[in-house]
Amino acid sequence: MSAHAQRGKFITFEGLDGSGKSTQLEKLAKVLRAGGCSVVTTREPGGTTTGEKIRHVLLDSGTAGLSSQAELALMFASRAQHIKEVIQPALHEGKIVLCDRFTDSTEAYQGGGRKLGSDPVLQLHDILCGGLRPDLTILMDSDVAASVERARRRNKTRHSSRGKSDENRFEQESRAFFSRVRHAFLAIAEREPQRVVVVNARGTRAQTHAKIVELVRKKLKLAK
Ligand code: TYD
Repeated sequence: MSAHAQRGKFITFEGLDGSGKSTQLEKLAKVLRAGGCSVVTTREPGGTTTGEKIRHVLLDSGTAGLSSQAELALMFASRAQHIKEVIQPALHEGKIVLCDRFTDSTEAYQGGGRKLGSDPVLQLHDILCGGLRPDLTILMDSDVAASVERARRRNKTRHSSRGKSDENRFEQESRAFFSRVRHAFLAIAEREPQRVVVVNARGTRAQTHAKIVELVRKKLKLAK
């Protein structure tokens, strides 16, 4: 127990593409840093040099014919590296780690969206992720149509303005796919209400930010 007493805090952001997770994560990081906390922000898939290479394979729409099982395995390959290289060391140093997506995304997208089911995802998590669980997960809930539209628009702009390879492979999925993803996220929140807090992400950025700051302070008993 004493080794854990010094552990930092692990907070994950989850939700559909275009639900505003990344913006909210950065805004929360700013507030926490201003309050004197040491904060690491990171994302999945990615977060390490190897993980970013895996991310490219996973998100590039040029990656044709990837099997759902291979996709699942790559998500966990990226995650295992990320935990070892970034997340665990930061938690050991007592930092707050804010991570854009984690295993709940795999359960929602590969388990729900790709219909692989929750069991293989939870089993792989146990085997490969050493039982690491977020202290708090903020699930940004929004409407399927609105979020996907937003994500598509954003990625189009990114692609044309930076001339980089695109990150559109998931955004080409159907409305039915994202609807399964959303339901799988909500089922996780129902199963683990102590860890997962659903935040309605349909309001303004400022409203959502205020809600998140409040719940993080309460849940983690951080100083004002
Ligand atoms: P992300 O960069 O968070 O996209 P966005 O900013 O649009 O929300 O995530 C990239 C994509 O990867 C997203 O479509 C969800 C997908 N994904 C999975 O399918 N499974 C996973 O385990 C993770 C971490 C992401």
